Amino acid sequence: MSGINKITLALLAMFASTAGSHALAADLDGAKLFADKTCATCHGKDANTPIMAGYPAIGGQSAEYALQQMKDIKSGARNNGQAEAMKVVMQLVSDEEMAALATYVSTLEYKPGMAVSRLDKTDAEPAATDAPMAEAKPVDSMEEQLRKIAAAGKTDASVAAPVAAVLPAAATTTPAAAPATGEKPAAAMTGKSGEGKNVWMAEGSEREAVMDLKPNLENGLEVYEVCSGCHLGEGWGKPDGTFPQLSGQHKEVLIKQLADIRAKNRDNPTMYPFALPEAIGDEQALADVVGYIESLPMNPDNGKGEWAEGTPEFEKGKQLYADNCVKCHGEDGMGKADKFYPRIDGQHYNYMLRQFEWIRDGKRRNANPEMVDQIKVFTDMDMKMVVNYASRLPVPKEDVAPSKDWKNPDFE
Ligand code: HEC
Ligand code: HEC
Ligand code: HEC
Repeated sequence: MSGINKITLALLAMFASTAGSHALAADLDGAKLFADKTCATCHGKDANTPIMAGYPAIGGQSAEYALQQMKDIKSGARNNGQAEAMKVVMQLVSDEEMAALATYVSTLEYKPGMAVSRLDKTDAEPAATDAPMAEAKPVDSMEEQLRKIAAAGKTDASVAAPVAAVLPAAATTTPAAAPATGEKPAAAMTGKSGEGKNVWMAEGSEREAVMDLKPNLENGLEVYEVCSGCHLGEGWGKPDGTFPQLSGQHKEVLIKQLADIRAKNRDNPTMYPFALPEAIGDEQALADVVGYIESLPMNPDNGKGEWAEGTPEFEKGKQLYADNCVKCHGEDGMGKADKFYPRIDGQHYNYMLRQFEWIRDGKRRNANPEMVDQIKVFTDMDMKMVVNYASRLPVPKEDVAPSKDWKNPDFE
């Protein structure tokens, strides 16, 4: 756990020193890129101390091989589930940057001996980093991976500890009490994640405990620094939909989603390590960071679908919205805080499209079953049209920042 804390600290330092600077991408210094593009967050500062059991050590890897893996993970050609965690980040890395990163990684010292990265050499089912490209199953990949590691932990005490540190942390609020045997965490995983079943209102969720806590905004800002690496200092995410806008979202929804992600009831491999109690803290920290996010104004210029008002597709989307969405998300897209219905006005089109599809296809397991039912007959075209309409719902003036160039002063 102290390893994770160290990485968190390094990450904080990194964001503190780079926040507000956008000129970095042009600088092809591999070491700098490795920090700036969040590679260090998952693979460790030295590229050999990964934050999660099952993430590879990559220092000392051959440059050609590393480059090919990055390309394949970015394109989706390598897609065995764990790769999903890195894929989103790779969308922000150009070919030139990948080459610089590969060269940099290859110059680092290879440090064999990490219990976690040795797993692929045991007889147990490997958590192999070079496994053949199995059929992608992003939904349960993380769980599957952790279960395999937990199973291996039964025969290797040096593996059991890091695994126990990761598994029950997501399931309980007292990680220190986690049993250090492989058996229990594996069982806890199976019981907790519901094996792909819908877990719209998970019982015993942190949600209930966090809801009434009084936020400490100063600590909230401190916690949010990690989040800003992806959701940006303004909480606006990216108009291309890689990262959702958080600003403006109901407190209830933010808390539910964070609790669900931590408890692995909503699969989010990219963000999962950053949301863990070891990384950001306990329930109070959740309340704090949500309190901070609530203080941020929304993006006046969110990512929108392609069909402007007046086009037939817009009109069809509007009709679909009236018939299928209004009862929960409201005519104005404001949702209902007390029922955990999210606000969707002002959210980025591509993000919503992805969520909508996952909800329709049962991949977002914490979704409201009524919504799943309501939209299961939607074709891909219906889906695009209705989400296009939602992305174009006007956002109340008082909720948005004065301009799309507004910067959060806390991060300048
Ligand atoms: C959110 C976590 C995460 C981030 C951020 C991340 N990676 Fe990865 N990376 C992974 C995981 C998980 C794998 C293993 C994927 C698999 O099992 O298929 C991986 C695999 C790799 C590999 C292939 C390793 C091998 O031995 O096959 C390379 C090279 C790599 N990452 C480099 C990078 C670089 C460079 C960055 C920054 C631009 C980066 N990663 C950012 C999680 C991450
Ligand atoms: C490495 C990138 C990354 C980091 C760091 C990160 N997130 Fe996220 N977050 C994401 C991605 C990607 C999604 C959307 C996942 C999806 O498409 O299902 C997301 C989704 C969310 C959601 C759900 C939004 C919704 O509309 O349902 C919340 C809430 C959230 N993040 C909060 C946070 C907080 C708070 C932090 C800091 C503790 C944080 N995130 C750190 C990448 C990140
Ligand atoms: C029965 C109520 C209900 C109906 C009907 C419904 N939704 Fe939802 N929707 C929800 C709930 C609840 C969530 C959040 C689920 C969760 O907690 O993960 C959600 C999530 C979403 C999200 C993801 C938001 C985010 O921030 O991640 C989108 C986009 C969305 N709905 C769009 C729609 C559209 C478009 C329609 C109509 C075609 C619709 N919904 C119909 C209740 C509903």
